[in-house]
Amino acid sequence: MAAEENRVQASAETITGLMDAEHNRLRDLWEHTTAALKAEEFARLHGVARDLITAVKRHISVEEQILFPAIESKGKNNEPTEAMRMEHRQMEHMLEQLEPLLTVAELWTGINAIEGQEIEPGALLRSHENKEHDVLFPLAEQLLGADEARMLVGRMRTELNKA
Ligand SMILES: [Fe+2]
Ligand SMILES: [Fe+2]
Repeated sequence: MAAEENRVQASAETITGLMDAEHNRLRDLWEHTTAALKAEEFARLHGVARDLITAVKRHISVEEQILFPAIESKGKNNEPTEAMRMEHRQMEHMLEQLEPLLTVAELWTGINAIEGQEIEPGALLRSHENKEHDVLFPLAEQLLGADEARMLVGRMRTELNKA
C-alpha cells in the first residue's frame, strides 16, 4: 500500500508530482546561474538568469492564481497559503536584487548581487519549496480530492507551459 501511494505521489498527475518537478527545474536554473557566474561566462549568465527570473515569477503566479485559491475555496485554515504568499513577496524582492545578473560583465558585481542578500537565494528557494512539498501540496491534495486535484494539475501545467 505504501509503495502504491509513493507511486501515485511521484506521478506528474498529482499536485506534488507536477510542482516538485517544477521546483527541481527552478533549482537547476539557479545552479546554472551560479555556475555561469563562477565560470565568468557572462553571455550564458545573462540568458540563464533571465530564464530563472521569468520561471520563478511564473511559478509564483500559477500558485497564487490557481493553487492557493483552490485551497482557500475549501474554507478551512488560510494560514498555510498566507504564509507562502508572504514568502513569495520575499522571493520577488530576491529576484529584483538578482537583476544585475542580466547585464553584468564582471565577477564582483555578480557575486555582490547574490551574496549581498539577507538570505542566500538558493537557500531561500530550497526552504520555501520544502515547506510547500511537506505541508501545502499534501494539504491541497487532501482538501481537493483526486479528481479536482487532477483538473487543477491540468490548468497549472497549461499555464506553466505558456511561452
Ligand atoms: Fe511557492
Ligand atoms: Fe512552489
